[in-house]
Amino acid sequence: MKQLIRNVKIIGTGSYVPETIYTNEYLETIVPTNSQWIYENVGIRARHIAAPNQATSDLATEAGRRAIEDAGLAPTDIDLIIVATATPDRKAPSTAAFVQHKLKATNAAAFDLAAVCSGFLFAMSVASQYIAAGVYNNILVIGADTFSRITDWTRRDAIFFGDGAGAAVLSSANVTEGFLAYRLYIDTIENMLGFTVPAGGSETPLTADNLNEQYFQMDGKAVFKSATTVLPKAINQVLTDTGLTVNDIDFMIPHQPSIRILQKTAEIIGLPFEKVMTNMDKYANTTGGTIPILLDETRRTGKLKKGDIVLFAAVGSGWTYGAALIKWAL
Ligand SMILES: CC(C)(COP(=O)(O)OP(=O)(O)OC[C@H]1O[C@@H](n2cnc3c(N)ncnc32)[C@H](O)[C@@H]1OP(=O)(O)O)[C@@H](O)C(=O)NCCC(=O)NCCS
Repeated sequence: MKQLIRNVKIIGTGSYVPETIYTNEYLETIVPTNSQWIYENVGIRARHIAAPNQATSDLATEAGRRAIEDAGLAPTDIDLIIVATATPDRKAPSTAAFVQHKLKATNAAAFDLAAVCSGFLFAMSVASQYIAAGVYNNILVIGADTFSRITDWTRRDAIFFGDGAGAAVLSSANVTEGFLAYRLYIDTIENMLGFTVPAGGSETPLTADNLNEQYFQMDGKAVFKSATTVLPKAINQVLTDTGLTVNDIDFMIPHQPSIRILQKTAEIIGLPFEKVMTNMDKYANTTGGTIPILLDETRRTGKLKKGDIVLFAAVGSGWTYGAALIKWAL
């Protein structure tokens, strides 16, 4: 009988960050901040910044190329490319179209997905539906952002973001491995504009008079409150969905907003913090890039073993949030 619903696994990962590094000490020379305050309160020591000639699609393409190579595939084996980004190259065409072209992935359809910091998690879930239904076999999912381009480098909140991209190739799996559950949500109840880029869209087009509204604006307290409320909710839901407990989790590979958000979340769900992977000290918050860059690093350091239960969780502007569990298959 034809199998209509298939399990889905990750068969390759890749990541790329640009060469230029802005350390906390360097930021002290351009914005009113303090390197020790940044590390102690947010967990960041440095961030990578795209070169003037690098667009989001250039970072995404390199991460994607590495993931395809890691999967043992050629770009022409990819059926679909989804790029999760909040900093597209242009409003048209999509960043994914540029990536398809640059990778010469000539058999792939391609589109962008917008869920800001939760983008990669949402994009993996979309890719999984196509594979489970038998529509596509190999999907390249990329999270890529260049928040340096929407940062006001005169304000102290310039410390939070870095540029980078990560990618994973998703393919079909046997029934004993791969993704076990997804939960995606939007919480608009409280201060949904606590993280926003006010101008440059259809609501408020950029004009000569509102140029400083092209940069992100963040209410740090609102981000903290939302994140530490919704992340535990999503995580507990995927545990309930799968009948697993927090003790079954081998690694948590979360979005990287701030070290305190992750510590608080781990405390609420009862997960020992040594199981929570972090790399924000090196890269800051790369938005769509955080989870796949961290996944790639965790994998390449040999930590992940076949059969490990891995928890993904993310929260971002909107507030988009969600969690997923996967039984690692490589
Ligand atoms: C950022 C965060 C640590 C700030 O904590 P807070 O108590 O809300 O901080 P406030 O903005 O009220 O500032 C309190 C003091 O911290 C210091 N401070 C705040 N931001 C600072 C910065 N960027 N650099 C140096 N010192 C800073 C100042 O001393 C400030 O006092 P002041 O406003 O009188 O100058 C906290 O809100 C947080 O972790 N939020 C989550 C942010 C996040 O994860 N963003 C990811 C992107 S979605």
